[in-house]
Amino acid sequence: MQVWAVANQKGGVGKTTTAVSLAGELSNLGKSVLLIDLDPHGSMSAYFKLDPDSHEPSIYHLFQTPAYAVNEIIVDTGIDKVKLLPSSTAVATLDRQLGTQAGKGLVIKNALTSYEDQFDYCLIDCAPLLGILMVNALAAADKLLVPVQTEFLAIKGLERMLHTLNMILKARAEPLEYLIIPTMFDRRTRAAIQSLRQLRETYHETIWDNIIPVDTQFREASRQGKPISHVAASSRGAKAYVQLLNRLLNGKSEPSLMASGH
Ligand SMILES: Nc1ncnc2c1ncn2[C@@H]1O[C@H](COP(=O)(O)OP(=O)(O)O)[C@@H](O)[C@H]1O
Ligand SMILES: [Mg+2]
Repeated sequence: MQVWAVANQKGGVGKTTTAVSLAGELSNLGKSVLLIDLDPHGSMSAYFKLDPDSHEPSIYHLFQTPAYAVNEIIVDTGIDKVKLLPSSTAVATLDRQLGTQAGKGLVIKNALTSYEDQFDYCLIDCAPLLGILMVNALAAADKLLVPVQTEFLAIKGLERMLHTLNMILKARAEPLEYLIIPTMFDRRTRAAIQSLRQLRETYHETIWDNIIPVDTQFREASRQGKPISHVAASSRGAKAYVQLLNRLLNGKSEPSLMASGH
């Protein structure tokens, strides 16, 4: 099983959309996927029509009760071979409860070890927060995907986030490969074109050489609770995620590594 975490400290940059869209494309390839909603807002759970305010059990129980098995928590998404580990609003309290307990950074990684053979891919949708959940995501991940909205100020926030992530990653034995993904690109606006150029200049080695365009079909897909490929397979947005998946599966470029502690 390959584990990919989708993270950015900023909200509304396309994290959940990226995780769901890639899951849809992987499903189209016949791959099995475990989606993990690590966001206390539960927007991925809500995407699949669950109510994070009332849904139980959720990943909260994985942290609370070590005996809880992933199998007891996963739910169907309605997408072939794609399952979801949902979040719930109680997850928001985990940082305060677990902040100082040793070993709580490896809950997700450890929980996944029994499911290595059950899924081909695991995609983790991270919260726009740096806390115990992010530590868990980074510890479990083989690859980090960083969606960045192509707008002014995107770069400032990105710099700050990569710096913080590097600090967290010092605790990892192995460096983490990551890819920056320009999202919501609107080629009609100067701001988008300029910020894309700036992103490419600053992160030329770690940025995907393509973009995810603005596409209203994403809204329609989320309304229907399905990945874009299952709603509008020939849309520009769906095609862009096919290309992104190809890059992730066959990527020829050099891996971009974040520092390890060794
Ligand atoms: N490429 C895109 N074009 C148009 N709308 C998008 C695109 N990507 C995401 N969206 C929409 O933008 C909103 C925020 O996206 P989301 O994936 O939830 O961001 P995040 O998880 O980073 O908070 C959602 O309403 C989503 O449907
Ligand atoms: Mg989200």
